[in-house]
Amino acid sequence: FAEIAPEIDFRPHVPGADLAGIPYCLAWKATRGIWPAMTDLKAIFCLGAGVDRLLADPTLPQGVPLVRMVEPALTRGMVEYVLWQSLFHHRKVWELEAAQSCATWRPHTYPAPWDRTIGVMGLGELGTAAAAKLVEFGFKVRGWSRSPKSIEKVECFHGPEQLTAFLAKSEILVCLLPLTPETRGILNAALFAQLPRGASVINAARGGHLVEADLSAAMASGQITAATLDVFETEPLPADHTFWSTERLYITPHNASITDPRSAAWRISRQIAKFEAGEGLDDVVDRTRGY
Ligand code: NAP
Ligand code: GLV
Repeated sequence: FAEIAPEIDFRPHVPGADLAGIPYCLAWKATRGIWPAMTDLKAIFCLGAGVDRLLADPTLPQGVPLVRMVEPALTRGMVEYVLWQSLFHHRKVWELEAAQSCATWRPHTYPAPWDRTIGVMGLGELGTAAAAKLVEFGFKVRGWSRSPKSIEKVECFHGPEQLTAFLAKSEILVCLLPLTPETRGILNAALFAQLPRGASVINAARGGHLVEADLSAAMASGQITAATLDVFETEPLPADHTFWSTERLYITPHNASITDPRSAAWRISRQIAKFEAGEGLDDVVDRTRGY
């Protein structure tokens, strides 16, 4: 902020500080129950795309707009992660690792990308960009959202009534949904059973989407061959969690994509300037939808 918007009096939070008089707050892992002390808030800017953690605090003021993070570096990072992991699962890299571990030159085949279907759950800012990149790489791409969508070369499905059809051919399933009461626990046994046998699952959204025991069971039965998880119900993932030692389960430490401070400061300072000029804010969370 000092570099990008020096006109803004930016103050890092110090426990015990008087919070009255602060018009704008930037928050990610905000101290629960802190909000009533900010009596003069005009807007809250979430430092990430997902606002589930902030919305879980009942003291978050209702009448103050909550703006989620949308910035090009965050989108770009997620596109990179989804492409990287989709290619990893498409090429079944674990088979190569197994051959290399016993110094074996083992023939290894894989379908052309146009014979591989990847399903993206969530066609918002991140899901749409990720789907477009997968299309560019030649994959058959399908997507699922709440409302109907039309995206070039992406077979679009929407709503609970089209979920089964969406899942039926998704050999690699990518979750980029927001965590809401409707989507909590959506990656469960019933959903895994509707995927083609041997599918892969990539969860880069929130740990709360996944029923962890159901994934373990689906992997043990062979219904799910492999998975990449970036997010977990408990973070950091406890050292004794069975996921650490589950074969073909790949773990990243909630860093699929990270907000870029420079780009975010630019974006937020522009939003504040617009808001002060009487214009509306972009990317305001719809509290009734939860995202
Ligand atoms: P977004 O723009 O709000 O898009 C959300 C998408 O999910 C929309 O397409 C929405 O459908 C769909 N959706 C919501 N509820 C649904 C439901 N009940 N059934 C079907 N579809 C539903 O969000 P985003 O910016 O793409 O971010 C998505 C999530 O990614 C964030 O909430 C966050 O949790 C996660 N994330 C993770 C990382 C990481 O590093 N792991 C980084 C950034 C974000 P409509 O289009 O019809 O509204
Ligand atoms: C990260 O998890 C985000 O929501 O931006």
